[in-house]
This record gives sequence, structure tokens and C-alpha cells, in this order.
Amino acid sequence: MKKILVALLMLVWALIPAAARGDTDSCITCHSALEGKLAEPAKVFDQDIHHQSGLTCADCHGGDLHDDSLNAMSPAKGFRGAPKKTQVPEFCARCHSNVTFMHNFNPKARADQYSQYLTSVHGKRLKQGDTKVAACVDCHGVHNMLPASDTRSPTNVANVATTCAHCHANAVYMKGYGIPTDQFARYQKSVHAETLAQGDTSAPTCTTCHGNHGATPPGVSSVPNVCGTCHVFFAQLFEKSPHRAAFAKLNLPGCVQCHSNHEIVKPVDDWVGVGPKSVCANCHTSGEKGYTEAEGMAQDLAKLREGIERADTTLDTAERSGMEVSSARLELASANEDLVKARVNVHTFNEAEVRKLTDQGAGISTKTHEAGLAALHERDVRRKGLGVALITIVITIGGLYLKIRQMESPPRS
Ligand code: HEC
Ligand code: HEC
Ligand code: HEC
Ligand code: HEC
Ligand code: HEC
Ligand code: HEC
Ligand code: HEC
Ligand code: HEC
Ligand code: HEC
Repeated sequence: MKKILVALLMLVWALIPAAARGDTDSCITCHSALEGKLAEPAKVFDQDIHHQSGLTCADCHGGDLHDDSLNAMSPAKGFRGAPKKTQVPEFCARCHSNVTFMHNFNPKARADQYSQYLTSVHGKRLKQGDTKVAACVDCHGVHNMLPASDTRSPTNVANVATTCAHCHANAVYMKGYGIPTDQFARYQKSVHAETLAQGDTSAPTCTTCHGNHGATPPGVSSVPNVCGTCHVFFAQLFEKSPHRAAFAKLNLPGCVQCHSNHEIVKPVDDWVGVGPKSVCANCHTSGEKGYTEAEGMAQDLAKLREGIERADTTLDTAERSGMEVSSARLELASANEDLVKARVNVHTFNEAEVRKLTDQGAGISTKTHEAGLAALHERDVRRKGLGVALITIVITIGGLYLKIRQMESPPRS
């Protein structure tokens, strides 16, 4: 009981920021007066999340912050010094894996970073003594650690790719591992990086696919399966398609086999079919079912695309001549939706499933094209009517003018 009371008191004490307790922190006082690497921690500690949460140097390093001599750092006072790189994860885990301790500060704090980290390539290799991999402080910094929500943090979604690139884009540093060093350069060209740069944080950065700490993000069995967490429909169709089993048998990944993993660009319809840009023709040759299905899909998509373009041009001309075609426009939008859905249905790899939608859309686009033509016809009729009316008016005015002149001229004697 007494032990629990003491522990509780210590906790309350720890929760009150040192400054509020009126203490002077000998670690900070002495280290601020030192130079270089020894002074750096004291100088930047102000904004550190640990300082902000009321923790001190001694909470991490041990020692006695009330002793202003070098004795403050005596092992007898619990001083544990600075951890070597291989010791860093355990050093952090002392608190971050302690659910009870962490929940005193933040009831929602997770306490799985260390256990997750151990499953990652970084964690496994560090355990084997490889100090080139990322340990906690390589991604988070040290002494000026900021929460990920802070845009200055190296773990902020906008900065993560650069943080990873420090090592992964450095060919000299990564020499000897035999893995590519182009992930960052390729990712920068992707539609994902572009979307993220526009401030849309629903697009993935490196850690969204690779996990912040673990080998994969929670709930994902392997990195190539991560796409389905966001592109749900595509994944559902792929799962039911003939490629799922075929790819699994050949040990090929799913989505990334056709889309790549890092340089994921906006696909175009030319990827379907059998032309030079076709992805299908990489594997299927003439005579195979895959080949004919691909060819059919390309024709279906082209037919609808051209139908929409034709209707669009006609409606444009009608609009520019002042005709009212807004309801046809609205209808054409639904043909466009069919085209979008047909592109999703490409992932059934079944031509009939694509044609179902392209036929529907083509019907609509023909109808709207006809509506546009009817509007143009009406315009012509109106123009003709207007012409006739104009001529009649001119003749009438002319007649009136002649009549008035006749009436105004003095009578001949
Ligand atoms: C009177 C000045 C003084 C005080 C007080 C002091 N230090 Fe130091 N500290 C030093 C000097 C000088 C060094 C470098 C020499 C050394 O390693 O012993 C150092 C080194 C360190 C190191 C690096 C040790 C390593 O393993 O490389 C850490 C960590 C550290 N201090 C933390 C603390 C903490 C935490 C406190 C407060 C509990 C503290 N210091 C209090 C002067 C001080
Ligand atoms: C959140 C835990 C944490 C806190 C709080 C903390 N440190 Fe450290 N400190 C570390 C870690 C981890 C390292 C090892 C860093 C590395 O490997 O780069 C370290 C390293 C050091 C070193 C060695 C620097 C070097 O480059 O050799 C000194 C000195 C030091 N800390 C002093 C302090 C002082 C002074 C404070 C308070 C102002 C403080 N630390 C607060 C975790 C902490
Ligand atoms: C490869 C880089 C990397 C390494 C190594 C790493 N982290 Fe993280 N960590 C991140 C990123 C990125 C986030 C931010 C996630 C977000 O956007 O919320 C994060 C988030 C956190 C958080 C906030 C809570 C949470 O889980 O989201 C804590 C605490 C944390 N890390 C502690 C650690 C500890 C302790 C270690 C070492 C065992 C470590 N990290 C190793 C990248 C890393
Ligand atoms: C003495 C205990 C302790 C140690 C040791 C410690 N931390 Fe923390 N850390 C905390 C507490 C308490 C918080 C504040 C929790 C909160 O507000 O969510 C925190 C917050 C953080 C955050 C911000 C979490 C967020 O919600 O964004 C990160 C990142 C972090 N620590 C990383 C580390 C790393 C990396 C190490 C090792 C170098 C480390 N910590 C060592 C106690 C500790
Ligand atoms: C301090 C340098 C460093 C940082 C920072 C770093 N890594 Fe690594 N990473 C390495 C090294 C070294 C390896 C080991 C390479 C190997 O074994 O193939 C590695 C391995 C990996 C692997 C496994 C590669 C494989 O072999 O399949 C992935 C995935 C990875 N890192 C992703 C990331 C991500 C994502 C980030 C940023 C959040 C990051 N790394 C940050 C150094 C780093
Ligand atoms: C859209 C998801 C996604 C994003 C974003 C992403 N990766 Fe990957 N990454 C993958 C997939 C999938 C693999 C292949 C993994 C496998 O086969 O297990 C991979 C492989 C890797 C590898 C192993 C070596 C290689 O190139 O095959 C490293 C290292 C890596 N990625 C680092 C990064 C870094 C650094 C970033 C950010 C700049 C990043 N990744 C962004 C999905 C992604
Ligand atoms: C965190 C969610 C997320 C993950 C994970 C993700 N994406 Fe994306 N993806 C997006 C967002 C957001 C966009 C941009 C908006 C859009 O066009 O859908 C996008 C765009 C795309 C596009 C371009 C779509 C277009 O019409 O321009 C393709 C292709 C794509 N992703 C494929 C993949 C593949 C393959 C993977 C897995 C390796 C993957 N994505 C993982 C969210 C994600
Ligand atoms: C066999 C090759 C192949 C596989 C496997 C594949 N795709 Fe596609 N994907 C394509 C082709 C081809 C297109 C282009 C369709 C078009 O624009 O007509 C495409 C287009 C896309 C688009 C953009 C659709 C649009 O509106 O333009 C997204 C997003 C996408 N795929 C995601 C995925 C995801 C997620 C997976 C895995 C579940 C996946 N793909 C698997 C070939 C593939
Ligand atoms: C990475 C190689 C690869 C790519 C790329 C690829 N396929 Fe396949 N596909 C296969 C394999 C392997 C099978 C199973 C063996 C077979 O039937 O040819 C298959 C099967 C099929 C089948 C079923 C054939 C049957 O007999 O039932 C169709 C349909 C198909 N693919 C269409 C496509 C279309 C359309 C594309 C392009 C969008 C495409 N494939 C891209 C490898 C690929």
C-alpha cells in the first residue's frame, strides 16, 4: 500500500512541469554552459514533446537534477548515460511500451511502437548489430522531438518521404545491401505524391504502405496488398478475377505487377488492348483468351470515349449558339460516369463486364448527341424564321417610308 502511495506521489510530481515546481534543473543549467554536442540537447529541448509533457533530461538519462555538480551523473544516482544506437529502441521502449505509464499522459497513446519495430527489417537488422538501419531517433530526431501533427516534424506526412530518402536515396550509404535506391525519385513522380503535395492527405506516403514501425501497416498481410485498403472496389474485382489465382501460382504480386509500386502514374485507356502501350500484351499473345478479351475491352472503351466526345462537341456548338441543352449535358455526365466505372471493371478482366457499362454509356451518348443535333436544327429553323421576319419588317418599313413621302410631297397641280 505504502509503495503504491509513493508511486502515485512520484507520478503526480512527474506530471507537474519542473518549471512550475520551482526547481532548477541542474542538467540543463550545466549543459547549457558547455559547448557543441554537450550543449546542443539543452538548447533545443524547449520545444521537445517530452519537455512539453513535463519530462526532464533525467527522466530519460537518469541521474539527479537537484545536484549541480558532476555527481549528478553518478551511476549511483541512476544515471544511464547516452544509449548506443543498438540500445536506442529499448531506451525509448522503457516508457513507450508501458501502457499504464503512457496513459497517464495521454489516454489514447499507443504502446506498440517497439513491438512493431522488432518485426521490421530495420528492427531485425539492428538486433543483429547493423547500425546503418533506422532506429527511433533516425526518424524522430532527438532532444527536439515533435509530434507527427507538427508540420516541422520529420515524421509529419509532408516530410516522411524526405526522412526515408536520407538513407534510401543515398546510393553510397546503401551500397552493399543490393536493393534499389530509386524509391524516392520514383515516388516523387507518382500520382500519390502529386495528390499529397496538393494537401490531400488521403494519398499514401512511404509509411502508409510500409507501416510506421512494423513490417506492414496494421491489418495488411503484405505490402503489395496495401492498395486495397484505399482502392476497395479494384481489390474486390481483382480478388474475383482469373489473375488472382494465376498470379499467386507464378508468385507475382497483384496490383503492383501492372501499376508498379513507387512510380504509380495515372493510367490511360491505351494500357488496355494490344497496342504498344498495352500492359496486357506483356503477357498475352495473339490467340489467347486474354488477348481477345483485351482487344475487345479496348474497342468498347474507345467506342464510348468517342461517343462522348462527339456528343460533347455537338452540345458545345449548340450552347455557343445560345441553345438550351442543360438537360442533355446532365445526361451526358452519366455516360461519363459509365466510362469511369468501365475502367474500374477492367479489373474483372472480363470483356462482357466492361461492355455492359460501355453499351449503357454509348446509348446515353448517342441520345445526347441526337438532342444536340435537334437543338442545332431548331436553331436553323429559328434563324430561317428570323430571316423571313427581318425581310418582312424591312419591306414593311420601306413601304411605309414610301407612303409617308408620297403623303408629304405637295400635290401636283
Ligand atoms: C556540472 C555540470 C554537469 C551537470 C550538472 C550535468 N552534466 Fe551531463 N555532462 C557534463 C559534462 C562535462 C559531460 C561530458 C563528460 C562526460 O561524459 O562525463 C556530460 C555528459 C553527459 C552525457 C553524455 C554521456 C555519454 O554517455 O556520452 C549525458 C547523457 C548527460 N551528461 C546527461 C546529464 C543529465 C541527465 C544531467 C542531470 C541529471 C547532467 N548531465 C548533469 C556536465 C554536466
Ligand atoms: C526522450 C529521451 C531523452 C531526453 C528527454 C533527453 N535525452 Fe539526451 N539523449 C537521448 C538519446 C536517445 C540519446 C542518444 C542519441 C543518439 O544516439 O543520437 C541522447 C544523447 C545525449 C547526449 C550525448 C550527445 C552526443 O551526441 O554524444 C547528451 C550530452 C544528452 N543526451 C544530454 C541530454 C540533456 C542535457 C537533456 C535535457 C536537456 C537530454 N539529453 C534529454 C534521449 C534523451
Ligand atoms: C522508419 C521511421 C521510424 C522509426 C524507425 C520509428 N518511428 Fe515512430 N513514427 C514514425 C512515423 C512516420 C510516425 C508518425 C505517424 C503519424 O503520422 O501519426 C511515428 C509515430 C510515433 C509515435 C506516435 C504514436 C504513434 O504510434 O503513432 C511514437 C510514440 C513513436 N513513433 C515512437 C517510436 C519509437 C519508440 C521508435 C523506436 C522503437 C520509433 N518510433 C521508430 C516513424 C518511425
Ligand atoms: C521517460 C519516459 C519516456 C522516454 C524514455 C521516451 N519517451 Fe517519448 N514520450 C513520453 C511521453 C510521456 C510522451 C507524451 C505522450 C503524449 O502526449 O502522447 C512522449 C511522446 C513522444 C512522441 C510524440 C507522440 C505523439 O503523440 O505524437 C514521440 C514521437 C516520442 N515520444 C518518441 C520517443 C523516442 C523516439 C524515444 C527514445 C529516444 C522516447 N520517446 C523516449 C515518454 C517517454
Ligand atoms: C538511417 C537510415 C535509414 C532511414 C532513415 C530509413 N531506412 Fe529503411 N533501411 C535502411 C537500411 C540500411 C535498410 C536495410 C536494407 C536491406 O536489408 O535490404 C533498410 C531497410 C528498409 C526496408 C526493407 C527493404 C528490403 O530489404 O526489402 C524498407 C521497406 C524500408 N527500409 C523502408 C523505410 C522507410 C519507409 C523509411 C522512412 C519512414 C526508412 N526506411 C527510413 C536505412 C534507413
Ligand atoms: C503505394 C504504396 C507504396 C508507397 C507510397 C511506397 N512504397 Fe515502397 N514498396 C511498396 C511495395 C508494394 C514494395 C514491394 C514490396 C514487396 O515486394 O514486398 C515496395 C518496396 C520498397 C523497398 C524495397 C526495395 C525495393 O525497391 O523493392 C524499399 C526500400 C521501399 N519500398 C521504400 C520506400 C520509400 C522510401 C518510400 C517513400 C519515398 C516508399 N517505399 C513508398 C509500396 C509502396
Ligand atoms: C492511403 C490510401 C491509398 C493507398 C494505400 C494507395 N492509394 Fe492509390 N490513390 C490514393 C489516392 C487518394 C489517389 C488520388 C485520387 C484518385 O485519383 O483516386 C490515388 C491514385 C491512384 C491511381 C491513379 C488513379 C487515377 O484515376 O488517376 C492509381 C493507379 C493508384 N492510386 C494505384 C494504387 C496502387 C497500385 C496502390 C498500391 C501499391 C495504391 N494506389 C495505394 C490513395 C491510396
Ligand atoms: C493485369 C493488370 C492490372 C492489375 C493486376 C491491376 N490493374 Fe489497375 N489498371 C489496369 C489498367 C490496364 C488500367 C487502365 C484502365 C483505363 O484507364 O482504361 C488500370 C486502372 C486503374 C486505376 C485508375 C482507374 C481510372 O479511373 O482511370 C486504378 C485506381 C487502379 N487501376 C488500381 C488498381 C488496384 C488497386 C489494383 C489491385 C487490386 C489493380 N489496379 C490491379 C491494369 C491492372
Ligand atoms: C503479368 C502477366 C499478365 C498480365 C500483365 C496480364 N495477364 Fe491476363 N493472365 C495472365 C496469366 C498467367 C493468366 C492465366 C493463364 C492463362 O489463362 O493465360 C491470365 C489469364 C487471363 C484471362 C483468363 C483467360 C482464360 O483462359 O480464362 C483473361 C481474360 C486475361 N488474363 C485478361 C487480361 C487482360 C485484359 C490484361 C490487361 C488488362 C491482362 N490479362 C494482363 C497473366 C497476365
